[in-house]
Amino acid sequence: MRILVTGGAGYIGSHTLLELLGEQHDICVLDNYSNSSPEALSRVRLLTNADFLDVKADIRDDNALMNIFQDFQPEAVIHFAGLKAVGESGKVPLTYYENNIRGSLSLLKAMETVGCRRIVFSSSATVYGEPQYLPYDEAHPCAPTNPYGRTKYFVEEILKDWATSSFKNSAVLLRYFNPAGAHSSGSIGEDPNGIPNNLMPFISQVAVGKRDQLNVFGGDYDTRDGTGLRDYIHVSDLASAHMAAVNYSAAHTGVEAFNIGTGKGATVLEVVKAFEEASALRIPYVISPRRSGDIAASVADPKKAQELLGWKAKLTLNNMCQSAWKWQSQNLEGYGNPPEN
Ligand code: NAD
Ligand code: WQD
Repeated sequence: MRILVTGGAGYIGSHTLLELLGEQHDICVLDNYSNSSPEALSRVRLLTNADFLDVKADIRDDNALMNIFQDFQPEAVIHFAGLKAVGESGKVPLTYYENNIRGSLSLLKAMETVGCRRIVFSSSATVYGEPQYLPYDEAHPCAPTNPYGRTKYFVEEILKDWATSSFKNSAVLLRYFNPAGAHSSGSIGEDPNGIPNNLMPFISQVAVGKRDQLNVFGGDYDTRDGTGLRDYIHVSDLASAHMAAVNYSAAHTGVEAFNIGTGKGATVLEVVKAFEEASALRIPYVISPRRSGDIAASVADPKKAQELLGWKAKLTLNNMCQSAWKWQSQNLEGYGNPPEN
């Protein structure tokens, strides 16, 4: 299948490329490298021994999109491109709405011009907001609590309208829980700019000595050890969920949302312990005040993905820590070069 992958140089996109190329799909990556490096694509080529098109472009650039769609004529789009930092989204909400929502609209318009009817969208568990019950199933009300989460929720709503506007259209909304880990080779992984916001890359940087200690945000939550509990999902499992979603969209029209998680939660201190075991290092940490906007616990009910997509997470928290450690210890500076702008 000819598949256009927006944001394909990013963390989840690059891991998904390995799956897609492994299945001999014909790929075109579109990325503006605002949060990634072309080096990730070089490493994907090395790992797979497969080639694909890549175009440096912005999803908000209608002319560039038209040219790419006319030339490549994709049969499906996997749409990763977007800004993703929750804290930053509160400071520059318009940038987030512009990038994530207008960018998605431009993409849908370009899809229409060439009759491309299938899209798999990177949504997020953050669309649910404060849990009314756990685990979250897909019927849980959506009430995101920050601008980033609202961009994901609004794009989901746009995709619902688009999918119902023609009986030929198909949209699959993947609500990722907490992606973590790296490819087992250690040659691709997560390479955040500046101080990492997320737990696993922060711990990895403490482990290699780039940061002194981990601040554990809150030790008084109503969880088994008082620290925040999340459903961590290995990025390689996430990648295989995209394969399943593309296949599903080839066989089904309409719109469907899926939780992509394991159904099991781990606390911050459990992640620290698992990382210590994987790296044979001690991770110094201090219990700090809660981070504003955090919830105590978030866990997926992944049954629907298993039933309809035939997908289930296979890898464990230990696998996530081992691979994150391998990536970080082999790539102290990530992909090396600061991302282009
Ligand atoms: P990432 O930042 O590593 O990848 C996103 C990619 O999109 C980057 O390569 C970036 O350069 C590109 N991009 C951003 N804006 C663009 C634009 N306007 N035009 C072209 N390219 C653009 O992030 P990721 O972790 O791989 O996340 C991928 C998607 O999954 C994002 O949409 C994110 O919101 C979503 N998501 C991520 C997580 C997570 O914790 N990593 C969780 C849930 C959902
Ligand atoms: C996990 C746990 C923190 C860092 C975010 C987004 C969500 C999704 C995934 C995109 C929490 C604790 C963290 C640290 C800590 N992204 N923590 N010290 O907040 O669950 O989800 O990423 O869609 O939308 O909100 O992930 O990795 O930031 O935090 O103690 O330095 O680790 O408090 O309990 P989160 P996270």
